[in-house]
Amino acid sequence: MSIHPLPPPEQPTGLGRLPVARWFVATGLAAVIALAGGIVLTVLMIEAVRDAGPRPVVEVQLDRLNAALVVLFVVVVAVAVGLAVIVRYTVLKPIAQLTEQVRQVASGDFDQRLRVDRPAELAELSSHIDAMRVRVVTAWRTAEDQADELRRSNGELEQFAYVASHDLQEPLRKIASFTQMLEQRYGDQLDDRAKQYIHYSVDGAKRMQLLINDLLDFSRVGRVSGERVVIDTGEALRLALSNLSARIEDSEAVVTSDELPKVIGNRLQLTQLFQNLVENAVKFRSEAPPRVHIGVRRAGEMWEFSCSDNGIGVEPKYADRIFLIFQRLHPRDVYPGTGIGLALCRKIIDFHGGQLWLDGDAEGPGTTFRWTLPPAGEDE
Ligand SMILES: Nc1ncnc2c1ncn2[C@@H]1O[C@H](COP(=O)(O)OP(=O)(O)O)[C@@H](O)[C@H]1O
Ligand SMILES: [Mg+2]
Repeated sequence: MSIHPLPPPEQPTGLGRLPVARWFVATGLAAVIALAGGIVLTVLMIEAVRDAGPRPVVEVQLDRLNAALVVLFVVVVAVAVGLAVIVRYTVLKPIAQLTEQVRQVASGDFDQRLRVDRPAELAELSSHIDAMRVRVVTAWRTAEDQADELRRSNGELEQFAYVASHDLQEPLRKIASFTQMLEQRYGDQLDDRAKQYIHYSVDGAKRMQLLINDLLDFSRVGRVSGERVVIDTGEALRLALSNLSARIEDSEAVVTSDELPKVIGNRLQLTQLFQNLVENAVKFRSEAPPRVHIGVRRAGEMWEFSCSDNGIGVEPKYADRIFLIFQRLHPRDVYPGTGIGLALCRKIIDFHGGQLWLDGDAEGPGTTFRWTLPPAGEDE
């Protein structure tokens, strides 16, 4: 976790802004000056009485008064000095010590213990502050450890998904192709049931290939860092449509789009995004021929894209579920698929620093997905 630089302490206002030591010095000096003034006045009065030639008994009392004044002065000065020393060693020094310790903690040395031994009040205060420090630091370190652990296990999982899906491809390809060869080579010796079994095996192997390919795409996003450049999203859409051209033609779908802007992103991933969304729009069609529109508008700092279709629609209560991996709303024999497409799209958009969601308030039948992407600097 980063440590912010220590902000300057807030400046106190009003009379209280002077340090306590100066208050002591100022009031002490005022008291000593007033006392000295009083004593000088009294001495002058004594001298005036002496000049009047008092009786000897009064003279003696005047001498005593003189001596008493000197003793008083000395005692007051001694008490003032004593008080100053006491305040300095029992209040000011411990406060400065505690302030220094707190400053060190605040500037990032979280293991610095906060402790002063005296006076009792400050010792208690420092022990409470230290207990607070220990609790906060322990909670923070536990959270850090958990975040590290999570990052590590996430990384391992991604690595696992990648390796598993990568390494499974080869044996699967073998199963599919050798089972097909079995049918081609020995087809005339097999009865209908055996051919049906072979058909099931090939079908299963192909489906698993699809799944593994999708899983591989999914685990690649974010794992392989992928270049980030200025991408013409119109170009990415065109590429996606050309990959889907057979499906679009078969379903007589019409795909239109606004003038699409340039964004900062990864070409392959943004093509995959368009491809998955348009593929869904065409696949989950209603009776009418599919109409798909890719729109865009500016939303603050980002471009907000949309993909709307006139298909069967998604109930708003499934708005979150459809983005989870392997979550599908329909049986595979009605609408084929692996349930990875939208999870992949969300991961791609997350990776680009945007958001992808189902627009539950969109007008008309069909489905509208919206997502945001950061603009390329040259648009601004
Ligand atoms: N354009 C759409 N119209 C209707 N339903 C959709 C649309 N796009 C996605 N869905 C729903 O969301 C589910 C998840 O989509 P996706 O992750 O692409 O998986 P798949 O396409 O393999 O079924 C789909 O099974 C479908 O039920
Ligand atoms: Mg899909």
